[in-house]
Amino acid sequence: MKLYNNPPLINLLFIGAVAAQDYPSLPPWHPPGSSDVRAPCPMLNSLANHGYLPHDGKDITLEKTIEALDTALNIDAELATFLYNNAITTNPTPNATTYSLNDLSNHNILEHDASLSRADFYWSGDAHTFNQTVFDETRSYWTGPVIDVQMAADARLARVKTSMATNPDYSMSDLGSGFSIGETAAYIIIIGDSISGTVEKSWVEYLFENERLPAELGWSRHTAAATFATLNDMMDRVENATGPLASKVRRVGMHDVPRRRTVMPLP
Ligand code: HEM
Ligand SMILES: [Mg+2]
Repeated sequence: MKLYNNPPLINLLFIGAVAAQDYPSLPPWHPPGSSDVRAPCPMLNSLANHGYLPHDGKDITLEKTIEALDTALNIDAELATFLYNNAITTNPTPNATTYSLNDLSNHNILEHDASLSRADFYWSGDAHTFNQTVFDETRSYWTGPVIDVQMAADARLARVKTSMATNPDYSMSDLGSGFSIGETAAYIIIIGDSISGTVEKSWVEYLFENERLPAELGWSRHTAAATFATLNDMMDRVENATGPLASKVRRVGMHDVPRRRTVMPLP
């Protein structure tokens, strides 16, 4: 009765309950140890550093992938399964059902040239390690405190142009191109806002540079799940902002890969 007569207290209790359910506090973050393996992916490395994925980065199953992407990021199981199905193709063991994070660096399977924060494999055989010089080129196209789709598309396209102009072995498969556009779409929708197509630059920089979820800057897991539809919509927006000469899209079945792309010569 007393509670009923005290709406602010009821509100406080209610808000507390919702917050606890929707925004679980993040597990503690620990950098990789000397025998732990990591990926060319800033997000998977962050999830391993927080312990959503095995901290050693090894032998990751479908179940663990689905659970980690859901618990940490609210990515739905269909999209997580698609990513897992691609990830196991990088494990050199035939018919593997798990992957380790360093498998993902095997060149020209999923790992591709013109990354946002890694050098091309051609230069020193290291397309795996965060590279500040490469990331500084990417960041130079994020010209305000909030990255929008145009800035994100410009940054990706600039990296493609730089690689094409400087790397005599430059290559980009259809799948690599899909991943490249998908990765730019992914940081917008998972770290930022999939409706407005904007994301706090400081949050994205924090993710890349620390391999840690930017919760202390204000980021939290979205309450709406990210699905294939969310990703495809943002990929369309990134592609449209890139311009008609950058790539040509031909769609295939959604349950195979989200799209296949043929990269056309750039202007
Ligand atoms: C099981 C799930 C995932 C797999 C297998 C995966 C795989 C990869 C791979 C192989 C790369 C390297 C591509 C390259 O730049 O050469 C990469 C990069 C990237 N991934 Fe992931 N990823 C996953 C989940 C995610 C999620 C959920 C996000 C959300 C933000 C994300 C964001 C990125 C970004 C932004 C890059 C670009 C890094 C760069 O260009 O330097 N990834 N990912
Ligand atoms: Mg790469």
